[in-house]
Amino acid sequence: MTAISLHNLSKTFGTATAVSDICLDLPSGSFTALLGPSGCGKTTLLRLIAGFEHPDNGSVSFDGVSMAGPGGIVPPEKRQLGIVFQSYALWPHMNVAANVAYPLQGKGLRRDDIERRVAEALDVVSLDGYQDRSVDALSGGQRQRVALARCLVTGTRIILLDEPLANLDVHLRASMLDVFADVHQRSGATIVFVTHDQSEALVLADRIVVLDQGKVQQMGAPEHIYAEPANAMVAGFVGRGMVVDATASSGIVRIGDRAVPARGAGEGRLKLLVRPQAIQRSEGGLAATVLRARYTGASFETTVELAGGGHLLADLRERLPAGTPVDLTIDDAWIVPA
Ligand SMILES: Nc1ncnc2c1ncn2[C@@H]1O[C@H](COP(=O)(O)OP(=O)(O)O)[C@@H](O)[C@H]1O
Ligand SMILES: [Mg+2]
Repeated sequence: MTAISLHNLSKTFGTATAVSDICLDLPSGSFTALLGPSGCGKTTLLRLIAGFEHPDNGSVSFDGVSMAGPGGIVPPEKRQLGIVFQSYALWPHMNVAANVAYPLQGKGLRRDDIERRVAEALDVVSLDGYQDRSVDALSGGQRQRVALARCLVTGTRIILLDEPLANLDVHLRASMLDVFADVHQRSGATIVFVTHDQSEALVLADRIVVLDQGKVQQMGAPEHIYAEPANAMVAGFVGRGMVVDATASSGIVRIGDRAVPARGAGEGRLKLLVRPQAIQRSEGGLAATVLRARYTGASFETTVELAGGGHLLADLRERLPAGTPVDLTIDDAWIVPA
């Protein structure tokens, strides 16, 4: 297993700063999601870890051994890592076994040894028995699994994945999430997973690094980032909910003149994050008017406008037409750090 350490890492393209002074320690065997909007620097950071980009400043090391920094650069092929991109980069004219075995060619391994390793890797991604299939005849999800197996076959200790689910449909995505979790558990590899999809990051990762404009906005366990976003960007990007204006005095937080139970710290004017499941309808609560409702299967995700200004998102049990007046009680909120 291999720990990845990034120190003061920066990368600029022309005048565009893609990665800005990033410091991160990813423990051996961890599963990290790099999460952020398009253009925030996720791919560049992954390419710096892989060695396809060279940092302008700072260093990359694996288990304390420098890969990039003042002492020079170790090329990607010498970093012992596996990479899966959105496009699977498989050889279409080779069958599954030949694709998976590709990284083992020329290493002087015996044929039965190669076959055993290929079978083991295919087993991890639930493709046992697919050795002789043509890659062309596979679904998108199966191709993705072949690409993963090809990473695993060399016994790689670091796996880098760049938006690997972006081209798959909803059902395949769900089953691939399980495959990634299995691969992580069975290989013990240190995994870095790039995504712009916060729900993938929450489900899969044991730690999330939220990036915006090349900078780390917050890093922590998914449940920590969801419950206590560090700033307005993270509050808006991770999980459902709305941020509304509120005030605090003598430890009591209010939206308009209603007291609201809130976690976090702040005085005076502040921003409050309210999640949909923390809102109930109850008489005598905050006055609001329904703007629209969307059926999500479990409930109606309802956008309301507060009488005192601002919007909330509430999961309600029934469909309320636009214009319906509602009274709402909030039982949990988070004071977004300024
Ligand atoms: N090879 C490149 N040449 C010029 N600009 C680049 C290059 N790669 C990335 N960038 C710029 O760096 C920023 C971060 O890009 P990228 O790392 O691809 O973001 P993400 O993967 O989060 O969408 C963007 O502004 C992008 O336009
Ligand atoms: Mg990208």
